Amino acid sequence: MDLKNSEKNQTSLVFCVNGERFELCNVHPSTTLLEFLRSQTRFKSVKLGCGEGGCGACVVLISKYDPFLDRVDDFTASSCLTLLCSIHGCSITTSEGIGNSRQGFHPIHERFAGFHASQCGFCTPGMCISLLGTLVNAEKTNRPEPPSGFSKVTVSEAEKAIAGNLCRCTGYRPIADACKSFAVDVDMEDLGFNSFWTKGETKDLKLSRLPQYDHHHKNIKFPLFLKEMKHDLCIVSEKHSWHKPTSLKELQSLLELNRADETRMKLVVSNTSMGYYKDKKVYDMYIDLSGLDELSHIRKDRTGIEIGAAVSISKAIEALKAESRGDFLSDFAMILEKIADHMGKVASGFIRNTASVGGNLVIAQKNNFPSDIATILLAVDSLVHIMSGTQFEWLTLEEFLERPPLSSESVLLSIKIPSLETIKSTSSEQRNRFHFETYRASPRPLGNALPHLNAAFLVEVSPSDDSGGSRIDACRLSFGAYGNKHAIRAKTVEEFFTGKMLSVSVLHEAVNLLKATIVPKDENTKTAYRSSLAAGFIFQFFNPLIESSAGVTNFHLNGYSNFPFEKDFELKENQKQVHRNKIATLLSSGNQILEAGNEYYPIGEPIVKSGAALQASGEAVYVDDIPSPSNCLHGAYIYSSKPLARVRSIKLSPDLQLDGVKDIISSKDIPSGGENIGSKSIFGTEPLFAEEIARCIGERLAVVVADSQKLADIAANSTIVDYDIENLEPPILSVEDAVKRSSFFEVPPFLYPKHVGDISKGMAEADHKILSAEMKLGSQYYFYMETQTALAVPDEDNCITVYSSSQCPEYTHSTIARCLGIPESKVRVITRRVGGGFGGKAIKSIATAASCAVAAQKLCRPVRMYLNRKTDMIMAGGRHPMKITYSVGFKNDGKITALELQILIDAGIYVDISSAMPHNIVSALKKYDWGALSFDIKVCRTNLPSRSAMRGPGELQGSFIAEAVIENVSATLSMDVDSVRSVNLHTHKSLQLFYEHCCGEPFEYTLPSIWSKLSISANYEQRSEMVKEFNRSSIWRKRGISRVPVVFQLTLRSTPGKVSILSDGSVVVEVGGIELGQGLWTKVKQMAAFALGTIECDGSESLLDKVRVVQADTVSLIQGGFTAGSTTSESSCEAVRLSCDILVERLKPLKEKLQEEMGSINWENLILQAYTQSVNLSASSYYIPSNNSMMYLNYGAAVSEVEIDLLTGETRFLQTDIIYDCGQSLNPAVDLGQIEGAFVQGLGFFMLEEYETNLDGLVLANGTWNYKIPTVDTIPQQFNVEILNSGHHQQRVLSSKASGEPPLLLAASVHCATRAAIKEARKQLLSWSNEEGPDSTFLLGVPATMPVVKELSGLDIVERYLKWKMSKV
Ligand SMILES: Cc1cc2nc3c(=O)[nH]c(=O)nc-3n(C[C@H](O)[C@H](O)[C@H](O)COP(=O)(O)OP(=O)(O)OC[C@H]3O[C@@H](n4cnc5c(N)ncnc54)[C@H](O)[C@@H]3O)c2cc1C
Ligand code: FES
Ligand code: FES
Repeated sequence: MDLKNSEKNQTSLVFCVNGERFELCNVHPSTTLLEFLRSQTRFKSVKLGCGEGGCGACVVLISKYDPFLDRVDDFTASSCLTLLCSIHGCSITTSEGIGNSRQGFHPIHERFAGFHASQCGFCTPGMCISLLGTLVNAEKTNRPEPPSGFSKVTVSEAEKAIAGNLCRCTGYRPIADACKSFAVDVDMEDLGFNSFWTKGETKDLKLSRLPQYDHHHKNIKFPLFLKEMKHDLCIVSEKHSWHKPTSLKELQSLLELNRADETRMKLVVSNTSMGYYKDKKVYDMYIDLSGLDELSHIRKDRTGIEIGAAVSISKAIEALKAESRGDFLSDFAMILEKIADHMGKVASGFIRNTASVGGNLVIAQKNNFPSDIATILLAVDSLVHIMSGTQFEWLTLEEFLERPPLSSESVLLSIKIPSLETIKSTSSEQRNRFHFETYRASPRPLGNALPHLNAAFLVEVSPSDDSGGSRIDACRLSFGAYGNKHAIRAKTVEEFFTGKMLSVSVLHEAVNLLKATIVPKDENTKTAYRSSLAAGFIFQFFNPLIESSAGVTNFHLNGYSNFPFEKDFELKENQKQVHRNKIATLLSSGNQILEAGNEYYPIGEPIVKSGAALQASGEAVYVDDIPSPSNCLHGAYIYSSKPLARVRSIKLSPDLQLDGVKDIISSKDIPSGGENIGSKSIFGTEPLFAEEIARCIGERLAVVVADSQKLADIAANSTIVDYDIENLEPPILSVEDAVKRSSFFEVPPFLYPKHVGDISKGMAEADHKILSAEMKLGSQYYFYMETQTALAVPDEDNCITVYSSSQCPEYTHSTIARCLGIPESKVRVITRRVGGGFGGKAIKSIATAASCAVAAQKLCRPVRMYLNRKTDMIMAGGRHPMKITYSVGFKNDGKITALELQILIDAGIYVDISSAMPHNIVSALKKYDWGALSFDIKVCRTNLPSRSAMRGPGELQGSFIAEAVIENVSATLSMDVDSVRSVNLHTHKSLQLFYEHCCGEPFEYTLPSIWSKLSISANYEQRSEMVKEFNRSSIWRKRGISRVPVVFQLTLRSTPGKVSILSDGSVVVEVGGIELGQGLWTKVKQMAAFALGTIECDGSESLLDKVRVVQADTVSLIQGGFTAGSTTSESSCEAVRLSCDILVERLKPLKEKLQEEMGSINWENLILQAYTQSVNLSASSYYIPSNNSMMYLNYGAAVSEVEIDLLTGETRFLQTDIIYDCGQSLNPAVDLGQIEGAFVQGLGFFMLEEYETNLDGLVLANGTWNYKIPTVDTIPQQFNVEILNSGHHQQRVLSSKASGEPPLLLAASVHCATRAAIKEARKQLLSWSNEEGPDSTFLLGVPATMPVVKELSGLDIVERYLKWKMSKV
């Protein structure tokens, strides 16, 4: 076959999207489905969150007809990795396809809205489709008919439906509830706060209030004509071709052709490996292997199961599960089910649905991918079938992995798992049993995270007649994903075990042997941790066999629910074993108690977030959803890869075909009269582009502008920058360096916090002192789901309009004007909504908008940018890292008398908002009465990316530093830490001393009552006792519980508002605040309805539906300021109230007159009359907080309980209880969302998120693969929140208090609870070696990731335990 021949067979690519037919003849084979949908259709609900399969924002449902089975398969997939050509003949469904604002929303959309499960909304369409996929497939099963209103989905399936989807806003609990509401086995009482029902209503009533779901209703329709289509595809253009061979012969010819022509050819099945490798190479020929029968079958016979290489992981799981229920021998059935279970943790559902088993093994073999599948299949002696040219051969998987990388003309055809008959040992006897288990230690229990280590063990054991013990007759121990080339068999350990009777000493020796075997290639890859994991897995596997033969049956004793190995081990026991590692409990449930006042109706009502259903259907428009104007160009940053270097030149790579690359915009392109300024804060500016010298890695050097975003990204990625460091000082890469070189930013005196009391006196009063204790805190990345983005459109007369995803359009506006050297009147910045900000879209968003503006102005064409995740992560800077040194004096009873701190803040290269950090740190640190407090805080200027505000900037660290001090004091005194906290809580008197200007009246100081109320509601005392009891009886798991308070100082800023009443009575509102997902628009709507309602005419109670809050437009409403610091919702509300008051004043005389004349007057008539009588119906105002209302304190407390696994270092978050003072909440549903979402973001900071860099400051954690934000399986399993209505606060906006940031600080409770659990582990460790304890003054780092927890709990815990056991014999 040659290309010419295949041209004759040229077919076109045909598929449907939401029922619309598409036929394409000329497609570049590397085009992804996401690129096509977003750039060439009107369907924008698929969002680009990561482009690597790790976030779920782009999930679609693919429906594909299977002509052999005559059925349509429906499965979810990530459209960012799916190649467009591979969906030939398929029907695609996106969120807007199942319902929308015009045809009516789908119940999924409505329930997401009603359960308050959408905040910024960027993740929501993907979540909805993930759930849809699960529903559609459950409805196809032959499970019993569910009761009306429910689906066939179970609660557990409903929760797992979204296990691979990331959400940075909500904290997942409401999303899980929305999903669970469809489940047939849901207990309605378990579903959290929602807008459908109120507490106490009956189950039937509740069900009737839910948007109705009919499980018979076809959610999706498969267009019939697609069934008739042939599935082979051949698209050939001049330069590229896509082939989907349907026979091996055809494939062989294509491969042969490739060899002769040396064309650049790529084999593909589902292309998911591109999520990891991001191969930017452009290939000439793509060969899709999924049309070959030989690669798509699953066959079984007595010798085992053969799985075609192109079979998806999901299909393989299904088949293995089915076989495990089939007629194989019981041991083999058990093995198959365990393999399937393990495969269920590979990636996430929407990846497994397409990712092939063969593709996985090939990348493991060719590219050293840390595969799970290779490891688990290695342990069962799997075989692989390879075709090389016209040769076919069977190899063991081990031989395959050991071979040199598979050549491009070799194809993996299938994989065979042999039945046990073929792998029994020669000495095998009838009563021998096989034991099999698989393991993976990963930061997320349900998958979507690569493991630190995986393992699988298959062991043949025979019971010994005389001793009652067990002999190992044969064993296969495989390990992988630990930073070596590929999965391996631990042969020396296998040989050591073989023929031995199991005993503690044998296990001890095996562990030592193993630790020398499992050593990562690269020294920096957590070597000791990974070796210790291997020891843990081996121990976990073999120890129950020893204990069961020794008659130990109390498996609670070792903290695992292992089933004992019995001599008469039955099939059912094997079946039970299968479920050993499963998470038995549901992921999450919770209680919410929300007290709100109703005197300002509809203020205080938990109304659904404005636009939530639109967000769910994907119709809500974000900056990147705005259709590109004709001629639009796209930009991508070229950033510095050196921390300090002269930039001599920037050139595009000569290898690139650069047809579509238009220009490189740098500082030289700043127009004359303009300034090279990329952002500004009250403390200073930073350049838009580096000029002669680049001052940190990630600094903007230039923007490549090209025809498409993809091309711009490729070009930027391959530019060649010539650096030179001659005569430059070495860069400052640490705060210590900064101190040595006196490199600091100034802190304006008015912002530098004041010391409290007399430190020398306080120290003199102390009974004990801790001197110069040190700790460090790292950074955190925002991980907004929508990365930085803007679109600049040049307008007439040298004007420009810029659409920006920004928390501060006003600053963006003035920066652009200065940059372009034009008056501010010629600039207009529009921001409708932001796909998550968390501070990262404040100062940091300005440069993207300014870059687009400069490029657009120069090229006289619209220019847009949407940063890829990696670039965003490298440039973002994130939270401020810092080094803290403190000395503390305290009494015998734990009362602290003095605290003295030196804090070095790493601000990075430009000032941004860093000068505010000392103030923020100290304000949160003052939550305890330190007696006397003094500090020396330096804001260090380093050659690292400039840090910016991130939710609770400084406050988070300050609050945590306070807890670390308290923990250290209690450890030193061997006192209960909760008592130390209690004894140091402020009285109102000490509060006055520490928070001079904002402490409020004594009745406003609600913390003491929250503290004791929480103790009761969270059952703190009793649970503390239960934790102690658990720790006494459990060896391998330890628990900890901790209660933590928060005091948070808030400051209101001036904010504008404008209200206009249109002639039909509908109302348009503009405010300075930006909708970031925090529900600002919703509160503003409520305020407008309340304040206009004070006119008291008929129908004004339905005003809420008439109010529309519109996008921020900097020429329509000026002085918008920042949306930051948690208070913009309330200040925007107040500005709206003032505007409404003006309107009500203007309308009142007319209303009274009309009422007198007509008896009653309704709203519409009043407005109509007002129009005819020329009443000015637009009013604006500028809210300026008065001195005594500008600042206030907010309070809350949390109790968290965790459980740590001493073998892996994994922490499970069992329960969190929060009480939070919201004053009189403006909208308790919105505030609840803020509290839960902030807490989970804080949990990420304390426990999971490692924003790792190299020594030069280059961010290494630059994507979803290595930066792990919380997922639905890493939130508190029980999450209870109470919003306290603390009554009237004269100075607050309708007595409300903010909720955006303070709850984040409460996540320290999880960290402290983890520390408590580790303390128990260390105590136990010491007791085994009869050493003195307890050793409790250790420091637990942040984040307390698995390796960190494990290291402190004892990397050699297994060896020490076994030694201890041996010493007792
Ligand atoms: C977000 C994410 C998370 C993941 N997590 C995990 C995890 O936790 N554990 C784990 O083990 N894996 C994980 N994976 C890897 C995943 O299993 C593989 O990407 C997938 O199985 C590859 O299959 P594919 O069909 O997409 O292969 P493709 O991407 O189409 O192909 C992969 C490579 O193999 C070649 N190839 C494919 N099939 C053959 C064949 N039959 N013969 C010869 N060459 C072939 C292709 O040319 C290509 O180079 C994850 C992947 C993603 C995207
Ligand atoms: S964008 Fe596709 S999974 Fe993140
Ligand atoms: S609502 Fe999920 S990311 Fe914002």
